[in-house]
Amino acid sequence: MDVLNAIKSRRSVREFTDEDVSDKQIESILEAGRWAPSGLNNQPWKFKVIRDLELKKKLAECTHYGKTLMNAPVSIAVFLDNSGVYDRTKDLQAMGACIQNMLLATHASGLGAVWLGEILKKRKQAEKILTVPEDCELMAVIAVGKPKNVKSSSSRKSMEELML
Ligand SMILES: Cc1cc2nc3c(=O)[nH]c(=O)nc-3n(C[C@H](O)[C@H](O)[C@H](O)COP(=O)(O)O)c2cc1C
Repeated sequence: MDVLNAIKSRRSVREFTDEDVSDKQIESILEAGRWAPSGLNNQPWKFKVIRDLELKKKLAECTHYGKTLMNAPVSIAVFLDNSGVYDRTKDLQAMGACIQNMLLATHASGLGAVWLGEILKKRKQAEKILTVPEDCELMAVIAVGKPKNVKSSSSRKSMEELML
């Protein structure tokens, strides 16, 4: 899949089949995140893979998108490791690049994913559930699975609206 095609055809997937996602597939998604660009190449990200049902249940209570989390065979929690911060704005930009890399890798491999940001409303609660070091700040949870039905249409602002 060429990159522009992957970027344009990727959609947020919120419903998944029962099909499992292998560790190998998850590794390749994480690999795409690992290779994201970052300021000074400081690579401020940390990941936690969530498969455990009890953990999923607790995490699902932290978000309105709990149903999606429960439905996904695997989720990846993505953290900013504040112990290695360089410049908060640039570190946050790097986190976005890292997450987008993972979404695109997921899509290109025939799986589907959704970036769950709403969970940050209960960030502290979610971090406690995920038992991560103090310095790790939750940025997003990516729910991953085999898409049940893919909504193919989406829209974006026109190029004219974007040009200054
Ligand atoms: C920072 C961020 C936070 C998001 N949070 C959520 C979320 O909590 N729940 C959800 O279902 N989708 C979430 N999304 C997905 C967006 O709703 C989605 O990307 C947007 O509507 C465009 O649709 P598309 O991804 O299918 O092109 C989030 C996306 C981003 C970039």
